[in-house]
Amino acid sequence: MGKTISVINQKGGVGKTTTAVNLAASLSALEKKVLLIDMDPQGNATSMSSIQEENFNTIYDMMANPDIKAVYPTKLPSLKVIPCNSDLTGAEVELLEVEENREFVLKETLKKLKSKFDFIIIDSPPTLNILTVNNMIASDGIIIPIQCEYFALEGLSRIMETMKSIKKLNPSVEIYGILLTMYDKRVKLTYEVENDVREHFGDLVFQTVIPRNVKLSESPSFGMPILLYDVASIGAKKYLELAEEFLERIK
Ligand SMILES: Nc1ncnc2c1ncn2[C@@H]1O[C@H](COP(=O)(O)OP(=O)(O)OP(=O)(O)O)[C@@H](O)[C@H]1O
Ligand SMILES: [Mg+2]
Repeated sequence: MGKTISVINQKGGVGKTTTAVNLAASLSALEKKVLLIDMDPQGNATSMSSIQEENFNTIYDMMANPDIKAVYPTKLPSLKVIPCNSDLTGAEVELLEVEENREFVLKETLKKLKSKFDFIIIDSPPTLNILTVNNMIASDGIIIPIQCEYFALEGLSRIMETMKSIKKLNPSVEIYGILLTMYDKRVKLTYEVENDVREHFGDLVFQTVIPRNVKLSESPSFGMPILLYDVASIGAKKYLELAEEFLERIK
């Protein structure tokens, strides 16, 4: 049975989508069967997957009717994607109106798909709303990307609080790891925050850190994961390293 992982942080712009897309691509390069799901109405992970169809079905359509086909191929043979668009904003409102088990809609939707993939990776919006709660309930574990800046720790403690309430509904959900992103070793604050986070969270923090790398910021405008855009870049190398560390960790 495959494992489902959500990439979560309520703070915007910390590297959630970059991590979801590039971890998914790296795991697929390591010959794992991977499904990437875009659960952010901004649709950034969808744009990075360059779907050919013009009128694609979305995760929103699937949540309304699990028989709808919304799994699309990408340029990487063992990476598939379920896209989204701004309709997902409507899903948030509709979910709030569902009376029973509204936190479990995504989990139910993914039931049939779970056995077909080694990993399902879900990109989340920058909030802790009902969509993100659905992601966490549907997941075996979460990965939290953080940027080394002031208030990173405060943000982390909010996610930990949310995890406590999620655990009441999904007791087996784990934290697979905290990932330092846009790491810049020329900046003193980077070290200070890294030390604080490692001191508080110890082994939960991945050894691999993702450096600030211009190739990583360019690749979305070409609609590609870094592995296809520039395989020799430090960004590509580090996301592959992360995939290896992740596989080791969940053994
Ligand atoms: N390691 C990196 N080096 C340089 N640029 C990066 C890196 N990681 C992400 N970026 C860039 O930073 C911006 C924010 O990253 P990303 O979209 O992954 O964050 P996010 O947490 O998904 O944002 P949102 O909360 O809006 O969904 C993007 O323009 C992205 O290309
Ligand atoms: Mg994003």
